Amino acid sequence: MQEEKLTDTASRLLVINLIFREGMLNRSYMPENEVNFSRGLEGVIASQTKIGYIDGLKGHLVYRGYEINSLVENSTYEETAYLLLYGRLPTRSELDDFTSKLKERSSINKETYDVIRRIAGLSHTMSSLRTAVSYIGTHSKLGDKTDYESQEEMGISIIAKMPTIVAAIKRAVNNEDFIEPDPSLSYTENFLYQSFGERKSKEVTRILDSMLLLHADHGMNASTFASMVVISTLSDMYSAITAGISALKGPLHGGANERALKMIMSIGSPEKVPEAIGRMLESKEKIMGFGHRVYKVYDPRAKIVKTYADQLTKGTPLRKVYETAIKIEDYMIERLGSKGIFPNVDFYSGIAYKAIGFEPELFTPIFAVSRITGWVARDLEYLTNNRIFRPRSEYIGESEIKSYIPIERR
Ligand code: SDX
Repeated sequence: MQEEKLTDTASRLLVINLIFREGMLNRSYMPENEVNFSRGLEGVIASQTKIGYIDGLKGHLVYRGYEINSLVENSTYEETAYLLLYGRLPTRSELDDFTSKLKERSSINKETYDVIRRIAGLSHTMSSLRTAVSYIGTHSKLGDKTDYESQEEMGISIIAKMPTIVAAIKRAVNNEDFIEPDPSLSYTENFLYQSFGERKSKEVTRILDSMLLLHADHGMNASTFASMVVISTLSDMYSAITAGISALKGPLHGGANERALKMIMSIGSPEKVPEAIGRMLESKEKIMGFGHRVYKVYDPRAKIVKTYADQLTKGTPLRKVYETAIKIEDYMIERLGSKGIFPNVDFYSGIAYKAIGFEPELFTPIFAVSRITGWVARDLEYLTNNRIFRPRSEYIGESEIKSYIPIERR
């Protein structure tokens, strides 16, 4: 009996082995339309979109057919948010309706303020933001609906609340009282007012509004992709945005702006740049605020943000920080420009935010106050022709099927 059983098992194993070996060894098996492996999905087209276009070789960024420069000169964050979401510039009454919708939804409840106060300082501000958005989702009546209208309503509601949440995080970190949104103010005016408790100058407000506009959307960046993967499973918009916030936190992505400023300030002066950056490059460190998966030339957004950093630091103690940054840019372009490594949007943005009065731990949440529109716009667009994201991986593990060895015999 025992032997028979053994033969039987052995023969089954052999058959399994043959099947697997056939399958395993035959790694050249490529189901139809499979693409070769590309690390970090570099160069892989994962969706089709009408929302935005990046020309990484010419340094162009286009939102719904409008060059970013013309929007910065003529538009506002709210108008551009409408453009990204609905595909065209709004009429006056459409814009008024849209901004009213945002104002009606810009408050958060006491429990959410309490959560923000309770977790302030426990971990990074992006963790607070992720928690706050997720918490709001737990008591949304729409939270488990998957129809387009419900997802859109959740998306607009999160866009509306983002400045209130980030301003509350800033106030909680500084042990200050919370400030409710003022319905007479615009999206950016309110964000500044709720953050600082006062109205900022027209120039500062205009510059921050343009920076929010510049960061609003940027193709299939990691946080947008993360958000789209979640929405593609027909999970809810709060879950999708929580995923986007989680991805944006990383230093290789949205977290670079905070680290770039800290690096510039730690170097301290233009004279120290060659030695400091040279040493970092020698030790293969990534210089925060430089390089890009798509741009192999100067990030068009960084060109604009650099002018804001120049404008805002003139005659202030931050001027030396700006001059140090300029020196780092010159040094890096000289060393790595030939490899397509130039300043990206995160290099000068921290200097501008700091000059406005924000501390570095708020820089990435500010990025989220802007990118929330890109996340929602792309999630909603994807839902109109949804297909769950499910790429494959190339198996490079064991090629032989192994027999299980009981633990006492290992
Ligand atoms: C954002 O995707 C988006 O659109 C993002 C964003 C958006 O709006 O959503 O634009 C916002 O995230 C901007 C990027 C912010 N991150 C940083 O500034 C972090 C520093 N940058 C790098 O980590 C890097 O450049 C990435 C992550 C931005 C891009 O990485 P890639 O495309 O995977 O490039 P890589 O790491 O494979 O580098 C290629 C080569 C390497 O050298 P070799 O090994 O070939 O010799 O370039 C070198 C890298 O070492 N390199 C750098 C560098 N970036 C690339 N060397 C020094 N410093 C750098 N910053």
